Amino acid sequence: MQEFKEIHNWIKSNNRFPEDFNVSTLPSPSFISNGKELISFSTNNYLGLSSDPAMIESAVVGLKKYGVGNCESRLLGGDLDIYRELEAKLAEMKHKESSIMLATGYLTNLGILSTLPKASQICRAYGYRSQKTYNHMFFSDEFNHISIREGIRMSGCPKVTYRHCDLDQLESYLKKHEDYVKIIVTDGVFSQDGDIAPLPEMVQLAEKYNAILYVDDAHGTGVLGKNGGGISEHFNCYSPNMIHMGTLSKAYGALGGFIATEKYVTDILKYTCSSYGFTSTIPPDQAYAIITAMDMIKHQPERRQQLWDNQSYFVEHVTKMGYHLLSTQTPIMPIHIGDERVCQELSSLLHNEGIHIDAIMYPAVKMHSSRLRVMVNAKHTKDQIDKLLSILDSYKNKITHPLTKAS
Ligand SMILES: Cc1ncc(COP(=O)(O)O)c(C=O)c1O
Repeated sequence: MQEFKEIHNWIKSNNRFPEDFNVSTLPSPSFISNGKELISFSTNNYLGLSSDPAMIESAVVGLKKYGVGNCESRLLGGDLDIYRELEAKLAEMKHKESSIMLATGYLTNLGILSTLPKASQICRAYGYRSQKTYNHMFFSDEFNHISIREGIRMSGCPKVTYRHCDLDQLESYLKKHEDYVKIIVTDGVFSQDGDIAPLPEMVQLAEKYNAILYVDDAHGTGVLGKNGGGISEHFNCYSPNMIHMGTLSKAYGALGGFIATEKYVTDILKYTCSSYGFTSTIPPDQAYAIITAMDMIKHQPERRQQLWDNQSYFVEHVTKMGYHLLSTQTPIMPIHIGDERVCQELSSLLHNEGIHIDAIMYPAVKMHSSRLRVMVNAKHTKDQIDKLLSILDSYKNKITHPLTKAS
């Protein structure tokens, strides 16, 4: 235990991490923390669905029918019809044959990315012998989500990291490693940067070099595209080489993760991916709520319209003030700060003024590239956005561009 005591002392004396922050209500988008009301500009609940009465009503149907939890693994007696119904809807939304759902988005990336190269392992124990040796290699954007980076590491396969969205560099690596089974992995919407991966060009590369393209559309699903179908719908770009990943914990306001791909792939994953077969999955009430969320997103486009109206209102006004946002393509619009301590201080100052914005720091992003990740929400009122804008206006000389340096 001595090691942990030392680390703990260091953290306390260096004030290196954000203060403990406990809450008694969830952002809708305002919430209560330590008795104080704050407006959140950092919630993933993009459409405010998590507390929507229709969602709660659906979840209650699931709760009454099945109880609070599914204590069985899906491989061993826990494979409820409602999960299959949800997976069929997710596959249809992503224009794929099949989908497989896991307990969280994080677990989905860990489980699927680490399993894809090992698909033959269990079959080998039963006597399967491949005609050929397949060696796998990952090609990963440097700004990919930490769950992707960890999933790739868990696979034990070689990885090359290409510069953020630098497709020339990606192509040079693909060319150099022709002999491998190539798996390109990218965030669809970059979670800490807010920009969108250049999907059509990436699909072209994947098809040209016969690579798999795994796209983590955690922040695009429910947000991008005419029906909220995500990045592929946004670009109207689909490919047999693509594996779509998404989360159910953001625009869908619930819990879970999934991939959508060909049925022969999901069939294999059911038996080989431990994060599917050796753990519990989402409680059934969540599946009920998510099905309702999907229907609401599809049939009530005004919800997403409100999100995008708020997004453009914020972008227009904040850029007029002279702020430089890392991206203006999506509801994630980070203000780059750089120094971790400055970023934390700014987040605390905003907190004192009744605004919550996450200070995003290493290991979520590279060291010294911390940022205040502003995220707008369909439920923000103009008054709430104006309040943030007026505080940012008064902070202009604290948050300048070029970036604030450590004091
Ligand atoms: C890009 C990305 N992928 C995966 C995840 C993990 O999703 P979940 O919170 O559903 O586990 C996140 C969560 O923030 C994310 O931003």
